[in-house]
Amino acid sequence: MRVVAVAGAKGGVGKTAAAVNLAVLSAASGHRTLLWDLDPQGAATHCYRARAKVKGGASRLLGGKRDLDAYVRHTDHDRLDLLPADPSFRVVDSVLSTRRWPDRVLRKLLRPLDGAYDVVILDCAPGLGVVTESVLAACDLVVAPIVPAPLAVRSLDQLQEFVSTHRPGLPLLAFLSMLDERKVLHRQTRTQVRGDRRFALAVVPVSSSVERMGMEQVPAVLASPNNLAAVGYRRLWAEVEDRLDLEPTRTPLIDLTSPRSAEVG
Ligand SMILES: Nc1ncnc2c1ncn2[C@@H]1O[C@H](COP(=O)(O)OP(=O)(O)O)[C@@H](O)[C@H]1O
Ligand SMILES: [Mg+2]
Repeated sequence: MRVVAVAGAKGGVGKTAAAVNLAVLSAASGHRTLLWDLDPQGAATHCYRARAKVKGGASRLLGGKRDLDAYVRHTDHDRLDLLPADPSFRVVDSVLSTRRWPDRVLRKLLRPLDGAYDVVILDCAPGLGVVTESVLAACDLVVAPIVPAPLAVRSLDQLQEFVSTHRPGLPLLAFLSMLDERKVLHRQTRTQVRGDRRFALAVVPVSSSVERMGMEQVPAVLASPNNLAAVGYRRLWAEVEDRLDLEPTRTPLIDLTSPRSAEVG
């Protein structure tokens, strides 16, 4: 089982959008996939039309008294399950802080799922605190969306420092999120990060198809597979598979690499 955390200090940069799309691409590639929504806003839960209610709340879920699979919901998609979040996840930080080894909690909870899933994707709430420490201890790769802005690379440096402190050697894959090639600053940032090996080759352009996900509750890679954002997510997923030595076991329904048209919505 490989665990991918979509994480970072900032909110509103495209973490949930990436987690939701990567999860469905993982399942389409044949991997038994679990998407764990760790954000009290429950945006990933909403995108998969799941009920945002966790019995007993975050403290019971993280308390470890019941196995994690008791909370798992099936989605409309083959091989894709979801662990939903609800507003009680606001207190995850304080719940973890009361534990003796807060950083080990997530890893321990996930261990029994090892035989049931090939890929787990963690959609993290923004922040670099105790939850993220626990996430880092549990995951094999951190995926970090970075919006093209002068301070963007600085925010990646901060994340990298946090990773190096808490989980030295853990691979980090950043990607430019919400890229708008019409903007000079965005083009400059793209040039700036070219050659920075922390960045994926894939970029995810700004696109209304991603914005519509919140309304339509269908991942953009399925709703608008030809859109350039969908192409970006497919390329990103291919890079994630590569980093994790994951072999796709099915020919995905959709071509993972080549765009069939070049539409930016
Ligand atoms: N590539 C994109 N193009 C356009 N809008 C996007 C894109 N990615 C994310 N968004 C929008 O930006 C907002 C924040 O995205 P979200 O994925 O929720 O960020 P985070 O999880 O980092 O807080 C949402 O309204 C989402 O629809
Ligand atoms: Mg989010």
